[in-house]
Amino acid sequence: MSKTQRIISHYNNIYGGQLVSTSVKVKKGLIEKERTEAIIVSRYQDVGKVDGAIAHLNKVLRGRLRTHLRSGEFQGKLNQVSILHINGELPAKRIVLVGLGKKTEVRIDSIRQAMGTVSKAMRLLGVTSFTLAAPEQGIARTTLEITSQAMIEGCLLGLYQFKYYQMSREKSPKPIRGITLLTREENGVGMMRAGAQRACVVAEAVNSVRDLCNHPSNVLTPSALASEARTIAKARGIRCTILDRVKTKKLGMGAYLGVARGSHEPPQFIVLEYTGVPRTANPIVLVGKAVTFDTGGISLKPSENMERMKADMTGGAIVLQTIRAIAKLKLPLNVVGIIPATENMPGGLATKPGDILTSLSGKTIEVLNTDAEGRLILADGLAYAMRYKPAAVIDIATLTGAVFVALGRHAIGVLGNDDALINRVKRIGEFIGERAWQLPLWDEYKEQIKSDVADVRNIGGRGGGTITAAAFLSHFVDDGCPWVHLDIAGTDWGESARPYIPKGPTGIGARLIIELLQDLAGKPL
Ligand code: BES
Ligand code: MN
Ligand code: ZN
Repeated sequence: MSKTQRIISHYNNIYGGQLVSTSVKVKKGLIEKERTEAIIVSRYQDVGKVDGAIAHLNKVLRGRLRTHLRSGEFQGKLNQVSILHINGELPAKRIVLVGLGKKTEVRIDSIRQAMGTVSKAMRLLGVTSFTLAAPEQGIARTTLEITSQAMIEGCLLGLYQFKYYQMSREKSPKPIRGITLLTREENGVGMMRAGAQRACVVAEAVNSVRDLCNHPSNVLTPSALASEARTIAKARGIRCTILDRVKTKKLGMGAYLGVARGSHEPPQFIVLEYTGVPRTANPIVLVGKAVTFDTGGISLKPSENMERMKADMTGGAIVLQTIRAIAKLKLPLNVVGIIPATENMPGGLATKPGDILTSLSGKTIEVLNTDAEGRLILADGLAYAMRYKPAAVIDIATLTGAVFVALGRHAIGVLGNDDALINRVKRIGEFIGERAWQLPLWDEYKEQIKSDVADVRNIGGRGGGTITAAAFLSHFVDDGCPWVHLDIAGTDWGESARPYIPKGPTGIGARLIIELLQDLAGKPL
């Protein structure tokens, strides 16, 4: 095996509980000499020139590729796929063209989409490995490293499927075993490998979030999530502390325990500490809501779509997988992950409307709706975060149905007390294709959560539901501590499949936080 041909990573895909890996390689070579089931070449809609990989292939095919392009069957529209079978003129079996749309409109996300689309198409055809022709330079005014990362992310994220509980393998198409990124230029290999390697780490994080969200609540209990956290921590040298019902009670986490009261499943308050620089540096603290099932509690939810509430632990899963990813990437930062995990169940001991809880911060909370439970567990999660004197706190949660009303499926709601950090989140989200949009957090909204009998109440009445939830959370963040809140209740679940995002749990938010931390590692606050 030549030096440039090393396998750089695996990604494990699950079939009936079995692991199947996809190897990703970056290598230098000539596309027209490549022996593969499919050569994949991407193409703009409005660039007619026959150049780059297309020109090299066209030459060996004596103009047949040019004829194919001139037929007009394939215009290069974003996510359009066209296949040309080869009759021995090349070692490859087929050439697959995939459209990137207009060059003037191309974004780095177009790459991710096109690669997701074409990877899925290959699998449907029964192809088990393919080669991507690397572009000669970075796409959409980016570097070759970023472009390569997006290409491999698109493939690995697009190929995700959850087959854990489907035991018959016959009906499902064969998995993709190998992806090769091929470049003619020796000097591009290093950058491309760095990008591909990062893509493997990021895709593994996102796909693991999707897995955790897909597992039903009878399997993915708070205890199961805690043992997942322990396993990850052990493998990566991360410190992991798990506080049970007794310990959290001793500490005074009355808000968190008020949610856990109705459930027989033991609550697990998970804390992970990753140290990438000396401990003297203040950490970034991530807090993720992990309600492994949200029935609403005594304020019971209607049964329609209630099964989706198995994914009410998405924020916690994102925090866990982000910590794993940044440990793999060895980011020079200290990061703490806090994951309050519990079910929200009705029961003889459950919290009832009107009950008053004393939170870890000492503030009392009047619970007027037990279905507004996410903010209760986050209240204690945030108060616990303050013990670290954080450089910044980022919380992420499937918090309010109202964020779907406001922004739909295409933007994460972002609020907080630090506009510079919020703008950074928005900028990175736009760039990596997980957009966030800010909602205001003016003092006036705090009026809506004033209580007659306690310090604060857990619902804000009609209007601005996402904002009043964030206003509630702001009570548990110290003045002067930069804080950003991400509400992912509109984006965590997809109604239909998108190019690299499946139907069901999407994992949206994980890439945003990983890339934000990557950015913070380079340019601290
Ligand atoms: N987990 C839900 C929010 C949610 C809704 C997530 C839809 C994903 C999809 C949260 O705990 C909740 O129930 N919020 C209530 C708050 C209300 C009672 C103030 C809501 O949004 O209805
Ligand atoms: Mn709820
Ligand atoms: Zn919830």
